[in-house]
Amino acid sequence: KLNRKKKGKKKKKEGAQVEEDVLSEDEKMEIVERAVANAKPFDIADTMVTLATRPEFGDYQINAALGLSRALKMSPHECAGLIVEKLLPVIYEYMEEPEIAGPGFINLRFKNDYLAAATSQMAADATGRLSLPETKKKEKIIVDFSSPNIAKEMHVGHLRSTIIGDTLCNLLEFVGHDVIRLNHVGDWGTQFGMLVEHLRDEYPAALSAESSANVDLGDLVELYKAAKKRFDADPDFKIKARECVVQLQAGNDDEVAAWKALCAASRVEYQKIYDMLNIRGLVERGESFYNPYLNDVVSALESQRFAVESEGTLAVFLDGYKNRDGTPLPMIVRKSDGGFNYATTDLAAIRHRVEFEVEGGGEKADRVLYVTDAGQSQHFNMVFEAAKQAGFVPENSSLEHVSFGLVQGADGKKFATRSGDTVKLKDLLNEAVRIASEDICQRSENDCVSKEILGRVAKTVGIGAVKYADLSMNRESNYRFSYERMLSLNGNTAPYMLYAYARICGIIRKSTGQKDEKPIKWPEASEIIITEEAEVELMRNLAHLPDILLEVERDLYPNKICDYLFETSQKFNKVSFSSSCDTRKSEVDMR
Ligand code: ARG
Repeated sequence: KLNRKKKGKKKKKEGAQVEEDVLSEDEKMEIVERAVANAKPFDIADTMVTLATRPEFGDYQINAALGLSRALKMSPHECAGLIVEKLLPVIYEYMEEPEIAGPGFINLRFKNDYLAAATSQMAADATGRLSLPETKKKEKIIVDFSSPNIAKEMHVGHLRSTIIGDTLCNLLEFVGHDVIRLNHVGDWGTQFGMLVEHLRDEYPAALSAESSANVDLGDLVELYKAAKKRFDADPDFKIKARECVVQLQAGNDDEVAAWKALCAASRVEYQKIYDMLNIRGLVERGESFYNPYLNDVVSALESQRFAVESEGTLAVFLDGYKNRDGTPLPMIVRKSDGGFNYATTDLAAIRHRVEFEVEGGGEKADRVLYVTDAGQSQHFNMVFEAAKQAGFVPENSSLEHVSFGLVQGADGKKFATRSGDTVKLKDLLNEAVRIASEDICQRSENDCVSKEILGRVAKTVGIGAVKYADLSMNRESNYRFSYERMLSLNGNTAPYMLYAYARICGIIRKSTGQKDEKPIKWPEASEIIITEEAEVELMRNLAHLPDILLEVERDLYPNKICDYLFETSQKFNKVSFSSSCDTRKSEVDMR
């Protein structure tokens, strides 16, 4: 279709009075057949078929007729008619007769029998995969997320990266991909000269391989502040700090021991956050890992004359990147003091992640995802572009920046404590748990529930609320942090979802006569008999799960899953149950 169209256009452009090719009837049918073959339901990867934008349009929409009608020289409506004719034999088993709406949109709707069969198949899968097959195109996907900086406070941006990154990994793994979770911690750079030099005076034992592991460095953030203060105020210290970086980069034992002690102490701190959030499988591969590869990257860029000298630095200039004043914006890969920077490390990391022929072996990933705030978009755009132009990225590998907006305070300003300090993540998470606990403990129905169980529920609700708040927002928008909103029982929140889940479990328990079995035993799949429209609506939603997963796998917006789950729970809540089964009004009602 596209080729023909292009050809026609080109001829016109050349000014010749050549008519577009006239198609024979056979050719026309062939085009329609191809459109039909492409319009496989359950495969929204093809842009011809999309999920219906409104429930009254059915389950899917095919919009191909509008585009095809020109080439076929017929009205979009006629063209849609042809597509429908061809589509019928392919879909009649599971779809109602398609409806042609408006100028030529084709609406498809599942048959109830098919919905019943599909949902019982989902229920019959005892593995918990809901009969969803693993992907046929298994890819190796690296997700670079969380990535805090050593000896600096891990902030809400890192929290957001951790939550979004971890969820995307879980989803991609579920789909069947081979996922590598990389924590690209900031553990390298000139600031370590300053830190190690400060340790030399304040914690000399840290500068020895024998004793450094046993030194308690106290609060690292305070340590960082103290070192920075000296660095800014004392010229001698500054010089010593610079010399210290050279020693560290040369691999000198004492400085390396101190650096390791700093990394270890930071690791203990951020591990606490990962434990609270239940983050697993994250492999630390910080900036220092790529240090041995930096020289190679720079000489590759130099030998291609892609990187050029600019005011004492070595820099890459890319088309379309300008400073505010219109002058070309350099991407510096070697500073004037000979040191490398953030971009150089990221170029080396790209090579290591997508190429195979890197010394020591690369990852050869098909997709590399970078989960950081939108403030780093330009950095990643430039680094990706430079890596491609330098030939570091094989044709079939893709580099994607999964960017997210800022977390703001309730007032829309920078997220901070009342006194204006940065909020410690541990405090933030504990506060969410505390508020949840307060709410749960003051409910009379919980009077006879053990403290231990209440504590566990508070933790699930509190931490869940923080996570879900991050996930349920479109990640690109800035969002205002509000305990009240995220812990509300109404709306698309974790407490609501947990309530919905508890209610479902309650219904299952009652209808199957289970007492307190843990975990709950799901009943075996039985025949589905539809008795009301609300059930059909629920099943239609369930049948869309594969499409939602496909969309998130492709576009990486976790909020689509949250929206889907919220919708599913709402649809579930509209279904009526016999009062002997329904626990809505009794024990699990948290409102
Ligand atoms: N450490 C960085 C920061 O805190 C994030 C690193 C993201 N990953 C990367 N490959 N640059 O902003």
